[in-house]
Amino acid sequence: MKVVYFRGSRIEAAMELIICCKGATMRFLPLHILFFSCFCLLKFSTARRDTITHAQPIADPESIISSNGAFELGFFSPANTTNRFVGTWYSNISVKTVVWVANRNRPLIDSSGTISISEDGNLVVLNGQKEIMWSSNPSISAATSAQLLDSGNLVLQDGSSGKTIWESFRYPSDSFIEKMKISSDANTGEKILLRSWKSPSDPSIGSFSYGINPLPLPEVFVWKDGSTYWRTGPWNGQIFIGVPEMASLYISRLNLVNDKEGTVYTTLTSADESSLLYLMLNYNGTLMEKHWSEEEQEWEVTWLAPATDCEVYGKCGPFGI
Ligand SMILES: *[C@@H]1O[C@H](CO)[C@@H](O)[C@H](O)[C@H]1NC(C)=O
Ligand SMILES: *[C@@H]1O[C@H](CO)[C@@H](O)[C@H](O)[C@H]1NC(C)=O
Repeated sequence: MKVVYFRGSRIEAAMELIICCKGATMRFLPLHILFFSCFCLLKFSTARRDTITHAQPIADPESIISSNGAFELGFFSPANTTNRFVGTWYSNISVKTVVWVANRNRPLIDSSGTISISEDGNLVVLNGQKEIMWSSNPSISAATSAQLLDSGNLVLQDGSSGKTIWESFRYPSDSFIEKMKISSDANTGEKILLRSWKSPSDPSIGSFSYGINPLPLPEVFVWKDGSTYWRTGPWNGQIFIGVPEMASLYISRLNLVNDKEGTVYTTLTSADESSLLYLMLNYNGTLMEKHWSEEEQEWEVTWLAPATDCEVYGKCGPFGI
């Protein structure tokens, strides 16, 4: 499959007469079948690039798509609200599954939002009045572009050196997808955290977070308003000792890596490369591993924690069952 690139109007693109559809080879189209191809143009009109620049912002409802077609960045409304947010989602499955949100605490109240690169080089979300609703924030003094990578990572790059200045994987929302690292630096104390949504219709920062305590032994925690809510027990090099079923999980592997220089991180890998899988921290504090079922066309929860009230830290007393 190839994507049609065109600047300006669709007619101009049509005049170039080079259109590739799924399964069709590149060919010159006689004018009379041009109209048949319109759905094709429309289908691809939102799919033509993976990059946002100062000169090429996108406006609601436009989007960009990673070059492998796996992820999309654009505007969405959660269930039961008309508020608009900028986020990324899996682009090739039938259930819209948002895995990252930019302006999570400042919704756009209508469909006049844009995503662009500001004068100072930051990636920004603007409302219809051109107010900044969200910014990637580092101080930059270079021309940049923002690219949605095949991994789902949105990266802001320095245009001349190609250096990554900012990346969405360092500022997760509630979802831990493959290729991400949830890390903790014992030297600086810096932690990368998943943060739950407030509710299914509100992606603003909720009560729960997921991260690693590196010391004395690395361990994954879910915190509720900063206090321990659930924990895995220490990593023994193979598994977290409080979560024995992790050793037998067929579909995935939550792995912990210690770089021996103070940084510890977890990674998530699928045992089956062709299947989609991610971990999400639900608004109510439940950590869920979800696996996309091609057959059912829906996400199946393949693991969750805490599975019972007694697994909630301190709920049933220190020796509670
Ligand atoms: C979506 O795209 C990714 C990357 O190309 C692929 O690994 C995955 O299998 C695709 N998923 C579906 C449901 O087609
Ligand atoms: C949306 O609202 C309907 C009706 O009140 C409710 O049944 C449904 O659970 C809501 N969906 C979500 C995701 O909150």
